Amino acid sequence: MSNLAENTESVAELEQDQLSNVDTFPDFDSINHGDLLGLSLSTNTTPLTHGMHRFAAKYIPQVPRWAISQFCDEHSIVVDPFMGSGTTLVESLQSVKSAYGLDIDPLAKLITKAKINPYNIDNIQSLTKKILKYKGKRSEGDELPMSGVENPLHWFSRENKEKLNFIFEKINTFQMSQSEKEFFLCAFSSVLRWVSNADDQSQKTYVSGTLKKSPPDAWEVFERFVDRSIQGIKELDSTRSQASQASQASQASQAKILDGDALSIPLSNNSVDLIVTSPPYVDSVDYMYNFMLEYFWLGPSLGVESRSKFNEMRRQSVGSKNPSIKNEMPPAAISTMVCPSEIPSYRKSAVIGYFHGMEEHFKEASRVLKTNARYVLVVGNSQSANGIMPVHDCLTKLAAQFDLKLEKAFAYRIRRHYMKFPRKGRGGIILMDWIIVLKKTKKNLGRESQPLPIPNIRIGDHEVAH
Ligand SMILES: C[S@@+](CC[C@H](N)C(=O)[O-])C[C@H]1O[C@@H](n2cnc3c(N)ncnc32)[C@H](O)[C@@H]1O
Repeated sequence: MSNLAENTESVAELEQDQLSNVDTFPDFDSINHGDLLGLSLSTNTTPLTHGMHRFAAKYIPQVPRWAISQFCDEHSIVVDPFMGSGTTLVESLQSVKSAYGLDIDPLAKLITKAKINPYNIDNIQSLTKKILKYKGKRSEGDELPMSGVENPLHWFSRENKEKLNFIFEKINTFQMSQSEKEFFLCAFSSVLRWVSNADDQSQKTYVSGTLKKSPPDAWEVFERFVDRSIQGIKELDSTRSQASQASQASQASQAKILDGDALSIPLSNNSVDLIVTSPPYVDSVDYMYNFMLEYFWLGPSLGVESRSKFNEMRRQSVGSKNPSIKNEMPPAAISTMVCPSEIPSYRKSAVIGYFHGMEEHFKEASRVLKTNARYVLVVGNSQSANGIMPVHDCLTKLAAQFDLKLEKAFAYRIRRHYMKFPRKGRGGIILMDWIIVLKKTKKNLGRESQPLPIPNIRIGDHEVAH
């Protein structure tokens, strides 16, 4: 089978009314392999600290919540090897003993820390007051903290640039603990895109020549976003204490970011009860590039001092558009599914590199998982001008080599997705997300030979959250 199914019989065309509408994910036992769910997102996707910072391809908290409820108890250890903005860790804090996250993006780590840190909320409130006493003040200076950024006033109006200078200086000079600083830096980072001249509807960082933006006042937005973050940490704090009172576990839940990455997880063999994650999509999102403005300001505090270091780090991501190690051929396990000559040349090294990275990751994931433990992953399909790539089938094939066997998979329709604009066939519109449940076992579960359908459902403009 070719990797780019050109809308032939292998593509199951499904209509909207073929979805079963649900408000929450059903129990694992009552889901059939191949089910297609229309998940109505009437429930909040940004409770607790989930709404503290935008993040490209953030997954809805309902996914890790569901996986944890199905496969864990309060003694379990959960890992998210591609944790992004920490959705899994926040969810784990309410229910399991320990959760660990890994990511190669330093900003993702900062956001996650800010979302999971325990805080003295009174201190955060008094520090907020102290900063806001200066509301409206400006501090002169055109330079951005990251070196090598040309023309900062292309990105920010002088007024907002100077207001941001002032807020940033206060965060960096007021005396506060490390976790308090992480809280304020995360809040600061979350305002940058909104108050800049850059478009805030698309993920990509660019100033639109046609859609002129009137950025809101930096101080006003900062105040609003800090307030929202305080609500979030208060909510998480009370959920956390309720959970620790209700649980029999002697210790409160812990969530921690580990050094290393998804290809090298510093945990012992057979120690993890559940992996739940949304790995990067095939070459569709350049996570760090989406956060260019945030890196201009926070880069030096996160160990990314210059534009050149920033560009170098972008290449380390699984699925990077321009990976540092180039492979000509896909992994042998999927050589009949991915044919290099059919991949457009501008995507080739990204696509092939992606599958090699994921293969290495599955090997490592299998090492740390206990026997019979589950690996739950969310993946979309990538549609390009040439057709749809069955990424989910490729990933299950790669995982099976390391005893991670496909147990059940079901798809749900994304109704709130950060992406607003279809990318005209370059990279792909992701139409449905698959939840793939793998089980670490030597047994043959008999699913690998059946490809999953690729539902051809388009997302309406009105269904996209902006
Ligand atoms: C789809 S995002 C995860 C989003 C996350 N579920 C959330 O809700 O915010 C994928 C993440 O994988 C990270 N990533 C890419 N390559 C990685 C690697 N080798 N190890 C760890 N993380 C990696 C990216 O930086 C990105 O943050």
